[in-house]
Amino acid sequence: MAILHIVTFPDPFLKNPTQPVTSIDDGIQQIIENMADTMYQAPGVGLAAIQAGIDKSIIIVDPDPNPEKRKFQAVINPKIVLNRGETLSEKEGCLSVPDFRSDVKRFERVVVKGMDRDGRPLEIDTDGLLAVILQHEIDHLNGILFIDRISALKRSLYTKKRKKALKHGGQTV
Ligand code: NI
Repeated sequence: MAILHIVTFPDPFLKNPTQPVTSIDDGIQQIIENMADTMYQAPGVGLAAIQAGIDKSIIIVDPDPNPEKRKFQAVINPKIVLNRGETLSEKEGCLSVPDFRSDVKRFERVVVKGMDRDGRPLEIDTDGLLAVILQHEIDHLNGILFIDRISALKRSLYTKKRKKALKHGGQTV
């Protein structure tokens, strides 16, 4: 069991688009297990490798995070290949954006293609919470945080609050 350190806003590392995974070896399996340990401990419903300081296109998702069951799905090199409709993701949050939640506009339905942890092609066609989580995590791989999808005013208020908290040693994650 390894809990990884979560990189938090405004660390510029989170703005980097991640490198695709080119071969799935034991190192990748270890990263995925450590990401799952970290996600369930947080707890969160999804995690992108870049949030743990790992520059690789890997996400894990579990809309119903029960640490006993660990039914997470890992998606390697995920891409949204189709989107439909619009939904309001209410009070979205992120382990890399401490002490903040906001409503975010998201696609209602997405089709995501990638590979599972064994390198098999994977296609997920979904809506509801899982669709929102997939969009949020894939955004991370493109250097995008959910606060990049809210109004500039809300974002700047949060940024000021966050910088002040950090200055006073108020690290929360
Ligand atoms: Ni996030």
